[in-house]
Amino acid sequence: METPTMKPDTVLILDYGSQYTHLITRRIRSLNVFSLVINGTSSLKSITSYNPKVVILSGGPHSVHALDAPCFPDGFIEWAESNGVHVLGICYGLQLIVQKLGGVVVEGESKEYGKMEIEVKGKSEIFGSESGGDKQMVWMSHGDEAVKLPQGFEVVAQSAQGAVAALENRKKRIYGLQYHPEVTHSPKGMETLRHFLFDVCGVSADWKMEDLMEEEIKVINKTVASDEHVICALSGGVDSTVAATLVHKAIGDRLHCIFVDNGLLRYKEQERVMDTFERDLHLPVTCVDASERFLSELKGVVDPETKRKIIGKEFINIFDQFAQELEKKHGKKPAFLVQGTLYPDVIESCPPPGTDRTHSHTIKSHHNVGGLPKDMKLKLIEPLKLLFKDEVRELGRILNVPVGFLKRHPFPGPGLAVRVLGDVTQGNALEVLRQVDEIFIQSIRDAGLYDSIWQAFAVFLPVRSVGVQGDKRTHSHVVALRAVTSQDGMTADWFNFEHKFLDDVSRKICNSVQGVNRVVLDITSKPPSTIEWE
Ligand code: XMP
Repeated sequence: METPTMKPDTVLILDYGSQYTHLITRRIRSLNVFSLVINGTSSLKSITSYNPKVVILSGGPHSVHALDAPCFPDGFIEWAESNGVHVLGICYGLQLIVQKLGGVVVEGESKEYGKMEIEVKGKSEIFGSESGGDKQMVWMSHGDEAVKLPQGFEVVAQSAQGAVAALENRKKRIYGLQYHPEVTHSPKGMETLRHFLFDVCGVSADWKMEDLMEEEIKVINKTVASDEHVICALSGGVDSTVAATLVHKAIGDRLHCIFVDNGLLRYKEQERVMDTFERDLHLPVTCVDASERFLSELKGVVDPETKRKIIGKEFINIFDQFAQELEKKHGKKPAFLVQGTLYPDVIESCPPPGTDRTHSHTIKSHHNVGGLPKDMKLKLIEPLKLLFKDEVRELGRILNVPVGFLKRHPFPGPGLAVRVLGDVTQGNALEVLRQVDEIFIQSIRDAGLYDSIWQAFAVFLPVRSVGVQGDKRTHSHVVALRAVTSQDGMTADWFNFEHKFLDDVSRKICNSVQGVNRVVLDITSKPPSTIEWE
């Protein structure tokens, strides 16, 4: 499916691998300015195809002196200058500008990391003409240092140690910040970005979620001919629900949703989710109970990757069957499949040095339903592929998806299969896990913590330990509790519960779930671990 055609003022970010690149995009979008990230080594043709008003060169972990240092393409600076495009280099981006335009970057003697104070010098465009002499705290993270600027550039801010903190060449419309304005540790950073975009570059704040929604609807209607049908697999999660609601708004009941009970759902998940779809969203949904099919395929399988593959394959088989039934009913086979793919899954990012990742799309196959087969006949509709999670929630609110639903914690496509370690069909592992998970989540809700946690769940461990319950020795299972805080699931930290909460929840689980005599808490962040256990 094509990308919406609307052309607000676009700020294009060339990514050189900084961990903050996505954050710059989100910050700019929060100012109602449309912003996209592409790989920092993209061709000039690709860069110009976005018709950007501003290009930001991101930070990154490389040294400009490294042999494989990523860089913008030849002719980029000349193209920007002759087309009135403003260029801002941040950190590594600043150093690239300096080095490529004839200045000198050296390895800094005292590396400047973390918080530090800078002073704005004289009159500058990027800080505003009134800012001369202002001091502000900023967040630096770099090793190299610009020591000689290219011709026509001047230093407009310096660090306490005298290093270049900001530079500009007003005639060429090129600017650079040696620090990260997008992080909260640079308290005046947003003010500088805002001033830069609106006052220096003249960007207009005309990007609104409502406009994006209208554009997406137009694109969907252009893509799907008026006699064609579309299917959408609903997982019960926010992304597929918002995607389906949007497509339904565009093409009405030519959208056919399917909710598959794969036997790996949480406690009463099927009833709860179907209820919301029918009562609150009026979405036409067919519920297919395929639990026996999935579980018999999964019998005896312990390898997590194999589990995911089996689940993915079964899902596709079921979608195919569903499509055939629809063909019988409507005389035409559905040609499209809706997926709730989000922007972080499709961003073409610059890989950090030392990894063997290529520059290609970094779609996390395991975050789609097991990865779709290459020979799949259905064409994809991915109406959320430009959005971040919080933006999907905002779109959901505009589409009247109930707020309680929009705030649901993410739940993986392979369901409890990635939360029961080992063979999911062993004993009554799934049933035990459902009960434990329900107690944990309900306790979190009762304590008013649900919305402060990004994702919480229980894990069934395939180990037994000795215990004593009611004067009897037991040899029962261990369950683990996991709760994390996160922005987008890419990195996460464990949620710090009060001891009383943990004590209560552990007691409740051991007292009411048969087969469990030990509860442990996962206290690792991501990295080094992941959120799910597999
Ligand atoms: P990890 O465990 O990779 O998870 O740190 C990050 C986020 O992705 C979810 N996740 C999945 N979602 N299918 C999905 O739809 C999957 O196979 C899958 N695996 C992980 C996970 O729940 C977390 O929100």
